[in-house]
Amino acid sequence: MNPFRPTFGTSPPAMVGRDELVDEFAIALDDGPGAPGRATIYTGPRGSGKTVLLNAVEDVARRRGWIVISETAAGGLVERLETDHLPTILADIAPTSSTRLTGIDAPFGLGGASWEHDSDPPPSPSLRSLLGRAADAAAANGTGVLLTIDEIHSVEPADIREIATTIQHMFREDREVAIVVAGLPDLVEERLYQDAAITFLRRADRHRVGLLTPTMTAEGLRAPIEQAGRQITDEALSAAVDVAAGYPFMVQVVGHATWRQQPDAPVIELHDVERAATYAIERVGQLVHAPSLAGLSTRDRDFLAAMALDDGPSRMADIAHRMGVDKNYAGQYRRRLLASELVDAPSRGHVDFALPYLRDYVRGLDIELDDPDA
Ligand SMILES: Nc1ncnc2c1ncn2[C@@H]1O[C@H](COP(=O)(O)OP(=O)(O)O)[C@@H](O)[C@H]1O
Ligand SMILES: [Mg+2]
Repeated sequence: MNPFRPTFGTSPPAMVGRDELVDEFAIALDDGPGAPGRATIYTGPRGSGKTVLLNAVEDVARRRGWIVISETAAGGLVERLETDHLPTILADIAPTSSTRLTGIDAPFGLGGASWEHDSDPPPSPSLRSLLGRAADAAAANGTGVLLTIDEIHSVEPADIREIATTIQHMFREDREVAIVVAGLPDLVEERLYQDAAITFLRRADRHRVGLLTPTMTAEGLRAPIEQAGRQITDEALSAAVDVAAGYPFMVQVVGHATWRQQPDAPVIELHDVERAATYAIERVGQLVHAPSLAGLSTRDRDFLAAMALDDGPSRMADIAHRMGVDKNYAGQYRRRLLASELVDAPSRGHVDFALPYLRDYVRGLDIELDDPDA
């Protein structure tokens, strides 16, 4: 059976390179309310492994007996929390106290609606009161409540604000609550950090889910192969590491494609990797580069096309020239593309592609630039 999992959101057979991030989160749970990692943001481009990292921190919390609410952005997030997740959890863990509300649940300064009887339930309990009760019930068992939200950049701003405000209250009240969110870097920047109403999330621990080192990549390829009962030669492994280029999604794609060249052969050889490579690069183009570029403006794409004329880092001055614009103007595109992490700045005045194979992909698009010298 092919052990690799070249599918978004599906945990890999060996998740490499993320131990530190997972440990940091575990420590935040153990350290109690006030630990910085109890509000965490993971950002990274498509296929960098954000969703499977969320899965991993959820597992950490579950193993500690925490209640986990796992959500992906879609309309009506707050409503789903209020009418679905939290009522279900409360019915499960605190059936007898499900309508018992105390003053602490009410917004400060509003006097507090307090009732004690099942016959007098509130019309629709707020996110804050529901989450507070779930956290209290969990805390009574020595655990807490973890909320994870994937694709946070697509959550409606009103929902993010309400969730952020609620969690902030929970933190102030020293409740056993944690929140971990993940999203695309440029959109997180734009939607979360530019919104003054969400100062709380700006103080969250923010981590880039980045590329893997060659050693990590080799482990991510070799371990699953051996666990599944085959071997890989050193030269084949080193070639596969090169093809994967540190990119987590590519580790799975190249591993999967290499494995299935001769699935019955006991040893994977160099020629298996060589045969798999072209296909793997094409897959990444379709599944990662195409959707990443679809979110960009025409001029952003022109900028990438201007970069793709170089074989390595590009000088900003050259790019501005090729685009037929001045340097300030080109600088605006540079900033946006840096924020998307599709591009990075290896040194002053230079830019380079940040995602493996993106240069070749952009070249393949044959984008026409107005040649200022023509
Ligand atoms: N640390 C890792 N090691 C090996 N493979 C990984 C790792 N992280 C993610 N992957 C694989 O990469 C692919 C993309 O992961 P995913 O979490 O869906 O990315 P994202 O949410 O950032 O788009 C999946 O096939 C997953 O199994
Ligand atoms: Mg994802």
